[in-house]
Order: sequence, then C-alpha cells, then structure tokens
Amino acid sequence: MAPMRNPILAALDVATAEHALTLVQALSPVVGGFKIGKELFISAGPDIVHRIRAQGASVFLDLKLHDIPNTVARAVAAAVRLDVQMLTVHSSGGTAMMQAAEESARAAAQKAGCPPPLVLGVTVLTSLDNRSLAEIGFTADVSRQVERLASLAAQSGLRGLVCSPLEITALRQILPASIQLVTPGIRGSSDTSDDQKRTLNARQAIEAGASWLVIGRPIYAAPDPRAAAEQILASLA
Ligand code: C5P
Repeated sequence: MAPMRNPILAALDVATAEHALTLVQALSPVVGGFKIGKELFISAGPDIVHRIRAQGASVFLDLKLHDIPNTVARAVAAAVRLDVQMLTVHSSGGTAMMQAAEESARAAAQKAGCPPPLVLGVTVLTSLDNRSLAEIGFTADVSRQVERLASLAAQSGLRGLVCSPLEITALRQILPASIQLVTPGIRGSSDTSDDQKRTLNARQAIEAGASWLVIGRPIYAAPDPRAAAEQILASLA
C-alpha cells in the first residue's frame, strides 16, 4: 500500500523571512507543506515563496483573494508563476469570480507546464457569528451560509474548500467526494485553544474527512517545533 501523504500544513505566521526559513528547514521532513499568510507575504514579499520552493517544500499562499473576477484571475495567474501549490479566494466573491480563479489557475499552469494549484474557497470566517452575519446583511445562520457558499464553490468548479473542523461532517454530506477540505483550528488535548473556539485534534479531523490540516501555534510556538510536528504526525499513524 502507498504511504499516506503527509496532511500537515504548517502555518508560518511569523514576521520575517529568517524566522520562516528556520522553521522550514526544521520542519520540511515532517510536514506536507507550509502556509504563507498575509503577515509574512506582506513583510517578506514574493521572494519568500521562491526561497521556500527552492528547499523543495510545497507552498499554500493564503491571501484570501476577493475582488472583481478579472483582478482575481490576474492575481491567481501571478501566484501560479510564483509556483504555489494551493491558494485561497473568498467564496462570497461569487460564481463568476470563483470560475475566473479556477480557469486562470488552469490556464496559467498549462502555460508554465506545471499542475494547476488547488484553488480553495473560504466560506464564512470563523470569527463571524450569526449576529455579525446579520449586521452585514446575511440572513442565513452561519452553518447554512457555510453550506450555501461551499455548494456554490463546488458548482463554480473549485476543487477544495477551507472549513472549520466542526463543519467537516456536514460538508462531506453535501459535497462531491473529490472536494478537498482544508481545516485550521486543530488542537491537541494539552494545547491551549488560543483564539480558536471550535477545535478538533488532528486525528479526529482526518477521521471526520479533512484532507489537509493547517496547524500554526501548536507547531511554530512550541519549544521544539519539529518535535511538536512529529508528535502530531505520529498521532495520525
Ligand atoms: O495558530 P493556529 O493553529 O490557530 O493557526 C491557524 C491558521 O489558520 C492561521 O494561519 C489562521 O489565519 C488560519 N485560519 C484560521 N481560521 C480560518 C481560516 C484560516 O485559523 N477560518
């Protein structure tokens, strides 16, 4: 049997290229890839993607794009030229925007001669609750809005979604099995939950149907990040 691919994506939520690269060096052998978010990308620039790719590691560029379709399509093409393997767009940008993102990912990848990156739809930010959704004019509750945007993302041709651990089971029931689910909010029983309100441990999330686990503070803020990642990986065996 083929060994299971490593589903751990370590979030590099740090401010400098040096800190990020130290983590990449320590963690590369024990994780499946690295997530670059807004803080690192804005402070270190696109060069950080080149430097991590140069070490042979996969990159998930989590910039949560949300704009008119033409602008998102052009940003996605630029991300493909940077050679990222996953990226995010907001599903609330609508069908035309998501279709433009997926089409651009495929076209730019074909031009570059590489596989298209996985374009992931972000549904409802986990920081929003029913009240904050109502304030911005959404009448559905969070779980209905998540399901609505997830279905729209799949119908628009996206092949993956970001969701909270507690949404995995419901989404697996309504989405095609081929959709990849990427889940932050992973915590072990001995971890502090930080600002994550709805968590599962890594094994529970995989058993519920997660394809990838985004893990930040439990790894990068651990006294020994590599040992922390090894321990999480061992919990999945
Ligand atoms: O440190 P922690 O494990 O909570 O990091 C989770 C990562 O996943 C962070 O980079 C955070 O921005 C991201 N994320 C999240 N919740 C979402 C979407 C992304 O925690 N709904």
